[in-house]
Amino acid sequence: MYYTSTRILHLLWICLLCLTLLSPYSFAGKMKIVEEPNTFGLNNPFLAQGSRLQPKVTPGPVSGPAHLRRLAGKCFSYIESTYKYEFCPFHNITQHEQSFRWNAYSGILGIWQEWEIVNNTFLAMWMREGDACGNKNRQTKVILTCGGSSKLAQVSEPTTCVYSLSFETPLVCHPHSLLVYPTLSDKLQMEWDEVEQARYENLITEQGYNNLLRDIFEDAGFLKSQKVKEKPDITTTSKTHDSLQKCNQDVRKQREEIERLQALLTQHNIPHESKAAKEKIPLSVTVQNQHLRGDNGLIVDVL
Ligand SMILES: *[C@@H]1O[C@H](CO)[C@@H](O)[C@H](O)[C@H]1NC(C)=O
Ligand SMILES: *[C@@H]1O[C@H](CO)[C@@H](O)[C@H](O)[C@H]1NC(C)=O
Repeated sequence: MYYTSTRILHLLWICLLCLTLLSPYSFAGKMKIVEEPNTFGLNNPFLAQGSRLQPKVTPGPVSGPAHLRRLAGKCFSYIESTYKYEFCPFHNITQHEQSFRWNAYSGILGIWQEWEIVNNTFLAMWMREGDACGNKNRQTKVILTCGGSSKLAQVSEPTTCVYSLSFETPLVCHPHSLLVYPTLSDKLQMEWDEVEQARYENLITEQGYNNLLRDIFEDAGFLKSQKVKEKPDITTTSKTHDSLQKCNQDVRKQREEIERLQALLTQHNIPHESKAAKEKIPLSVTVQNQHLRGDNGLIVDVL
């Protein structure tokens, strides 16, 4: 009797152990349980919130329609099955497993980065750079839709670790409430007008049109710049001197020009400080029959 119950207990213990080990994988699809082998302990609910969720980046600046800025600093939660989602517009979105498991999942699904603009209309807020998911980071698109009160309404995971939520709010019910054009500065509106005109006159391709619009939206801070990796000084240099050879040519031309000008100055007995340069650069340009170019000013051409 004693032996049997111990054995049953023992078996039960093994089964429990197996379930604990297997459950994250066997239910992964259905329950969206997302485990990080290296975050065991970090998800412990007894640890302070701040030390559990470590954002990788700081949120982008508040941008877009002025009447939506009042949402900054507020948070909206939504419970679906075993998960609670917390959306803080212009800040972050997090997911918290509603469970008493010692390693219940709690993680960042994205940090506010940029708008999605479709058809010249603000469509959704992109929260990116969330917790790691394989070799990518979790990201979430929050689509704004008209509704009676501000609340999260739906959640789905269209592709692995890319989440989609819909945020209902009366703030976007007016048909013009999400138009991009009125939110732009006069200067950017003027640029957009010019782009539209160029498209109307078939001066630019559809792709060119889209690229120019993207530039305007980036300048306005609605989209994250895709040009950050380029270093402006390198671009300028590479434009001026396409290659070392070209650079050398330019230097030679400039040296010849300096020599020519110095020779002219000497010829006209005009004092100039170029002794050091003179020593280095042999004068190879003949000065005869050369005239001062352009405006002579006070210098009288004696030839
Ligand atoms: C998410 O945003 C809220 C509201 O601004 C903030 O209080 C909270 O600390 C943020 N959480 C993370 C993990 O960044
Ligand atoms: C864009 O907006 C125009 C006018 O409001 C509409 O006719 C068109 O169907 C929209 N296109 C898309 C892709 O939503």
